[in-house]
Amino acid sequence: MDGTWLPLQQNWCNRCCTLPARYTEQNAQRIHAFETRDSDVFVVTFMKCGTTWMQELAWLLLNQLDFEAAKSRYVMERSRFLEYSALSPLPDDTITACEEMVSPRLIKSHLPAQLLPQQVWQQGRKIIYVARNPKDVVVSSYHFLKDTLLWEGDLNTFVNEFMKDQILFTSFWSHIVDFLRMRNEPNIFFVTYEEMKRDLRSVIKRLCKFLSVDDVKDNQMEQLLQHLSFDNMKGNKYSNLTGFFKQIQNTTKDFEFMRRGVVGSYNDELSALQKQKLDKWSSDFLKAYDIRESDIF
Ligand code: A3P
Repeated sequence: MDGTWLPLQQNWCNRCCTLPARYTEQNAQRIHAFETRDSDVFVVTFMKCGTTWMQELAWLLLNQLDFEAAKSRYVMERSRFLEYSALSPLPDDTITACEEMVSPRLIKSHLPAQLLPQQVWQQGRKIIYVARNPKDVVVSSYHFLKDTLLWEGDLNTFVNEFMKDQILFTSFWSHIVDFLRMRNEPNIFFVTYEEMKRDLRSVIKRLCKFLSVDDVKDNQMEQLLQHLSFDNMKGNKYSNLTGFFKQIQNTTKDFEFMRRGVVGSYNDELSALQKQKLDKWSSDFLKAYDIRESDIF
């Protein structure tokens, strides 16, 4: 079966990122001209790389570990998704909502480097970038886009379209490599989902320095790690976006935002041939930069 797709946009934005037709030039210009503040922090990711997990962590660090607020206000309200209303029909204008946020603002975006607000680069605003291995991203995106009725088709079609940059937010590797190559810039915090799974404690320590906030004390560290665990975030309706998506978007009855939360879940779903194709696609892209996938994740 052929994958059916949201109508794609045919203007300059689509040259660096696959976006729906709703993402008009006017929206792109508004985001380009978005005014940033000294204290802003952006969480930038390709979709399904652990954005929400990082938003929850970074928001807590920027807000003196206010667990009570994290358990009573939706993460999507505490940390707004900049381009969301330019992607799908929503009651709120999310660009305006970001403009109106109280500092320190933690702003989420899935846009590639070229489409972020120009002041992010001109003023060197802080960016936390989370990357994840492509095979898990393919499987996670497949379930997410199918279950939110944004894409229709089988997994094999999805894999092929993902590699051909025909899925929302692709090109995957360009998105990741742009930030990977900036990882040593003082305003870029580059981390992987895999690293967060391996040693979240060390990521937290490194992130505190990047955000210039106090180190997390030992007794609070345990509470923070517990708060950020997959099971806890799944059980907290303010950080598990399942209910949020069900409210604002049509979803299948099986839709679950907190799906598996593991590294390597692709092994249960991708065939040997699909894995082989994705590996070749990755190494072909990365060769030009003299990078191997195993160096990143
Ligand atoms: P899976 O679909 O592989 O389970 P994003 O927030 O960028 O959309 O990413 C969603 C992915 O992050 C999903 O992956 C989700 O389960 C996973 N995730 C969310 N919170 C997590 C947590 N606390 N620990 C581990 N993984 C988490």
